[in-house]
Amino acid sequence: MQTDNRSVTTSRTPWIVGVSGASGTPYAAATIRALLDAGEDVDLVVSRAARLTILDETGVSFRDGHWREDLAAWLGWAPEDPRLDAVRYWPAGDFAAGPSSGSYPARGMVVVPASTAAVAGIALGLSKDLLQRAADVTLKERRPLVVCVRETPLNRGTLRHMVELDEAGAVVLPAAPGFYAGLKDVQQLVDFVAGKILDVIGVPHTLFQRWRGDLGSAR
Ligand SMILES: Cc1cc2nc3c(=O)[nH]c(=O)nc-3n(C[C@H](O)[C@H](O)[C@H](O)COP(=O)(O)O)c2cc1C
Repeated sequence: MQTDNRSVTTSRTPWIVGVSGASGTPYAAATIRALLDAGEDVDLVVSRAARLTILDETGVSFRDGHWREDLAAWLGWAPEDPRLDAVRYWPAGDFAAGPSSGSYPARGMVVVPASTAAVAGIALGLSKDLLQRAADVTLKERRPLVVCVRETPLNRGTLRHMVELDEAGAVVLPAAPGFYAGLKDVQQLVDFVAGKILDVIGVPHTLFQRWRGDLGSAR
């Protein structure tokens, strides 16, 4: 059963997770899983284009009206999993949604993966959808904003937009996993990027083995 978000009054202060239409939806899934496993609340916004990447990369059709089932399928959890109770979902076209306003309580926001379009839109303050509006609000309220850009190579426009985001106070965190933590499979590479995101926002995790100062110690 879907709930009406506006009828819920709690003191929860969530992290807003914006999923835009870049390749790399496993980075988003790993970040959402880790936030929920850490006991954080999550407000989720999935852009229209991200529905295509989620479908392409996971086979899941993400629907506003069935977001809990679709999110569960995407994360590999059962729809009844109680961890999903900490998620509030907002359609990307809903400019009246909570995260549209600075008075809505939020710890900050992560955009993962971030398309070059989202990078541009946030840097320019376009607010063309709820994801971009929520990011703009996060910046104006001086809350943490992490933008996990996924594109390669990068054109000069995107590079400039990334500098503008940095100057505006965001952390630009390319989806660029390191290979020094004894990683053996793709999921570990994905978790490395999610772990770097959680490091930036100060949420504890065990997504990767930390560098200990000895070459080869993680092998
Ligand atoms: C399958 C697929 C993969 C894509 N991968 C990327 C990508 O890796 N990086 C990127 O910047 N855009 C990528 N795009 C293009 C974006 O989806 C497109 O620019 C869109 O306008 C982004 O909109 P959004 O930022 O509102 O989600 C991809 C599109 C599709 C359909």
